[in-house]
Formats: sequence, C-alpha cells, structure tokens
Amino acid sequence: MTHPRTSRPHLRTVSITGVGSHVPERVLTNADLEKLVETSDEWITSRTGIRERRIAAEGETTADMAAKAAARALANAGVKPEDLDLIIVATITPDMPFPSTACLVQHRLGAVRAAAFDIEAACSGFVYALDIGSHFVASHTYNTVLVIGAEKMSSVIDWKDRNTCVLFGDGAGAAVLQNRPAAHGLLTTCLGSDGGKAGLLEVRGGGSACPATAKSVADGMHYLRMDGKETFKNAVNAMVTAATDALDRCGLKIEQIRCIIPHQANQRILAAVAERLGAGPDQVFSNVERYGNTSAASVAIALDEAVQGGRIRRGDLVLLVVFGAGLTWGSAVIEW
Ligand code: UT7
Repeated sequence: MTHPRTSRPHLRTVSITGVGSHVPERVLTNADLEKLVETSDEWITSRTGIRERRIAAEGETTADMAAKAAARALANAGVKPEDLDLIIVATITPDMPFPSTACLVQHRLGAVRAAAFDIEAACSGFVYALDIGSHFVASHTYNTVLVIGAEKMSSVIDWKDRNTCVLFGDGAGAAVLQNRPAAHGLLTTCLGSDGGKAGLLEVRGGGSACPATAKSVADGMHYLRMDGKETFKNAVNAMVTAATDALDRCGLKIEQIRCIIPHQANQRILAAVAERLGAGPDQVFSNVERYGNTSAASVAIALDEAVQGGRIRRGDLVLLVVFGAGLTWGSAVIEW
C-alpha cells in the first residue's frame, strides 16, 4: 500500500493514541417523541433506523460533554492534560458565540500549555478537525493534539418540527493525535465543500446575517431547518466520492477495510453508501439506532465504541466518511 503522508520524508506519521466519548444520561425514545409531535415509532425506525437518542440535562453544555470525552481519550492515551499542545473542538453548537468552546475545555481539563480553537464544518467537523490537527503533528509543530467533536443538538432543535426533531441527539467524542514512529496511523484525509447548497441545512438566525431579535426568536430563526430529501441524496453521493477518493489515494480496495465508520445520520444512508462502495454490512459500524445524528460528535463516538468494543484492532484499516451542512464532506483512512 502506498502511504501518501509519509512518502514525504519531512513529515512525521500521525497516530491516534487514545479515543474517548461521552453521551448524556437522559434517553429520549421514539415513544417519547410520539407525545411531542405527530409521528410514530414505526415511521422513525423504518425511515431512519433511530430508536432513541441522548439529550443533555438542563445546564449541561457542549463544553461539559467535550471535556468528559476528552478526559477519557487522554486517559486511554496515557497523556496528562498539561502535556497537550493544542485542542481543536469541532462543533456547530458552541456554548456561546465566543469565547471558543475549545478554550472552555482547555480550562476544564487543566491543559495549561495548550492553544485552543473551534472549527465548524457541521457533521463533517470531526474529520475536518482530525485533518487540521494531524498536520500540526506531521509538520513537527506540536507533539500532542486533542481533537474533539461535540454537540448539544437539542439546543437548536424545534421540538415542534417532526421533520428534524426525531433525527438528532447530543454527545461528544475525542481523539489524541501523536507521532508514534513504529505505528502507521493516519494514511490520508480528503475534505470537500459546496457552499452553493448551504440552504439545504442551516440555522439561519443568531449570526451577523440575522442577529437575535425578539422577532427572529419568535419566527424560529434559531432552529435547525433541513430539506431532508435533497440532503439525503447529496449525503450519499458525497460520501461515496469521499470514500473512493481516500481509498484511491492509498491504493486500497474496499474489501481491505476492516471497519467503515460513516457519519451516523440515517441507517438508510449508511446502507446506500455501503452498497455503492461494494462493502458488506459487517464492514460498516452503526450506532445510529441508539444516538441518532450527533453531528460533529457522530464518527468520534462511533470510533470510540468500535475501538472499545473490539471491532477495531491494532493493524486494522479503518475508513471514516462524513457529510454535513455547508455542504461539507470528508474521509480519512487510518491504519490502527
Ligand atoms: O447530518 C447531516 C446529514 N443529514 C442527513 O443526511 C439527513 C438526510 N435526510 C434524511 O435522513 C431523510 O430525508 C429524512 C429521514 C429526514 C426524511 O425521510 P424521507 O424518506 O426522505 O421522508 P420525506 O421527507 O420524503 O417525508 C415523507 C413523508 C412526508 O409526508 P407527505 O408530505 O408525504 O405527506 C413528511 O411530512 O413523511 C412525513 N414525515 C414524517 N412522518 C412521521 C416527515 N417526518 C416525519 C416524522 N414522522 N417524524
């Protein structure tokens, strides 16, 4: 297999040396949603594969969940918070417009030496953060980088909109990036975007285009809105392209991938992507049934569960593939 990253000798290999995740305790089932909107367990399960999702407690924020996931990833990597050089948080539901959620996490962890910033690529955020973070390690700029995907999607959900409220959940996942000379680590990452389709999935209010006013709040401008059908089609196409590009760059075939971790948006999207890639169902990791779509946290939580559950072992080839608002998409191939 070719190794696009380390074929450039001045770059170091980048390994994921620890992963961790956290989901809130509160479970919201499809039966609970039947009491909120005109929907049914049968509709939600058959159209999305989702049976339940986790919802943050009142007062529990994105930074709280991110810090808990991060603490687990650090413990699994055997890294102390004070050894961190950089923290990147991918989120579209930051605790506040500023300061960054990454700075709040830096303080909670006691990562006194770390620089910190947020990035925003919606559901693609974790792979975007992984790509950005890996370059700091590869280029010798930093030795230890923490990347986190964390979301409190429940804070932007219109609980009267059945088109969206059944889909999303809260949670966080994290990974520690370091150079481990003996290991292979991240083989490649591919990212893409199409701002021409920004309107398919958005929270329109609360930014400079539509600052918060009594009217904007009354009009529900601060809620997530989505054209589900168009988003679905774009998601499948973009994820297939992103996955194929990443495999091609590494000279790999889909059957060589032990575990594919797609963005957990909808079981039907996972199935369509797997079918078009020619992947078997046993290659595809899914936990969408239990958590719904946790946006930037989605593949980070799934990666942690796949590792802790023994689905991914040392030396296995892993493919992450994501899609989200923006539009954005991305993929990563990792030799574990
Ligand atoms: O994370 C970013 C990526 N996100 C995604 O990729 C999500 C992509 N989209 C989807 O997953 C799917 O499009 C949905 C799950 C959102 C919708 O599934 P669909 O099969 O595309 O359904 P639809 O939008 O075509 O709606 C079919 C019907 C509509 O009724 P009419 O107009 O045919 O009478 C909807 O009003 O289902 C209705 N509907 C519901 N019915 C019961 C929509 N939501 C619900 C609901 N319960 N929760």
